[in-house]
Amino acid sequence: MKPIGTPLSPHATRVMLLGSGELGKEVLIALQRLGVETIAVDRYDHAPGQQVAHHARTITMSDGAALRALIEAERPDLVVPEIEAIATPVLEALEAEGRIRCIPTARAARLTMDREGIRRLAAETLGLPTSPYRFCDSLAELQAAIDAGIGYPCIVKPVMSSSGKGQSKVDGPADVQSAWDYAMAGGRVGPGRVIVEGFIAFDYEITQLTVRALGADGSVETHFCDPIGHVQVSGDYVESWQPHAMHPAALQRSREIAKAVTDNLGGQGLFGVELFVKGEQVWFSEVSPRPHDTGMVTMITQWQNEFELHARAILGLPVDTTLKSPGASAVIYGGVEAQGIVFDGVADAMRVPNSDIRLFGKPESFVKRRMGVALAFDADVQVARQNAKLAAAKVKPRVA
Ligand SMILES: Nc1ncnc2c1ncn2[C@@H]1O[C@H](COP(=O)(O)OP(=O)(O)OP(=O)(O)O)[C@@H](O)[C@H]1O
Ligand SMILES: [Mg+2]
Repeated sequence: MKPIGTPLSPHATRVMLLGSGELGKEVLIALQRLGVETIAVDRYDHAPGQQVAHHARTITMSDGAALRALIEAERPDLVVPEIEAIATPVLEALEAEGRIRCIPTARAARLTMDREGIRRLAAETLGLPTSPYRFCDSLAELQAAIDAGIGYPCIVKPVMSSSGKGQSKVDGPADVQSAWDYAMAGGRVGPGRVIVEGFIAFDYEITQLTVRALGADGSVETHFCDPIGHVQVSGDYVESWQPHAMHPAALQRSREIAKAVTDNLGGQGLFGVELFVKGEQVWFSEVSPRPHDTGMVTMITQWQNEFELHARAILGLPVDTTLKSPGASAVIYGGVEAQGIVFDGVADAMRVPNSDIRLFGKPESFVKRRMGVALAFDADVQVARQNAKLAAAKVKPRVA
């Protein structure tokens, strides 16, 4: 990587974020602090990251022609996917032509945008433990897969979806039809294909943030953050904390799995490896080749949060994953459907001990849209969890 230049000059280091939601916004802020010129791309105007970048561009990122035209016009030094719904074949083609460097790699972006790509890689190529699974293209195939061995309970998910969209638990034969219909309605694109997974009765689940960054000798080194525990409601994260206490054998296994997956995906940057843990047993669930929503807790728990770690790693700079204090995060949902909402109670929320609040600045609120996050630190992670939830509850979004 060439040395960092001066923004808005001929020698600027230019980074394009594909996706500029709350996670992209924090990556952009981290890049801004390092004097990088930033281009924030999203599918709608005034997305959170567009509000803090040098340049804002609005396109449909799943439209290959539009994506190619934008990248060719802007000629960024780095292209950083921040969401899954991107025309990844265009990224692979531009990377193969030597026109872009994609973070971590265009192949990683393609494999992880689709549950099938990453699941087959983890289970079939790398031989990592996962839930039992089958891919199905019809209700009949789904029923057959369940009957042939997946069994009940199981989980049905569209192959292309995130944040739990279209995902449901199937407890018995009576639920299969509705799970199929729900998956068809919730998938991101095109004709329905689902994964059905055997249900793992885990004790807890973690996100193992894993960073591939350059060491002093110029080779890639792998760094691990402390494990992040989280609670998911209908497939969407509501609360997270760090560190999550783990049996040393389970922690070691988690890191072996995270290393195997991230080594294969390659490149430089931060990854969020999602794992299920029961006793000393660990299953790989999925991985984001980018900062993870549950990792927002690191904004209060680490000296370098996950966004700063990502920014440094992609620029070829050294990273430090040391924990500063145990802490927690709790999501602030919109609660209302309206544009240009206001937030009551922010001052009260900030009076909760050792807490902080982030409001993302999204132009439009939905009942279940993530509009902000409360953070808290405490030597006792349980106290931090209570305080983060308390602070989040004090913020009251409402129609203006
Ligand atoms: N096979 C399974 N067994 C038990 N629980 C599961 C299984 N698959 C998913 N879950 C639960 O559902 C949550 C969401 O699943 P998953 O991560 O696959 O969906 P997602 O839509 O990609 O969510 P996100 O984008 O928020 O990570 C998991 O974190 C876990 O709590
Ligand atoms: Mg997930």
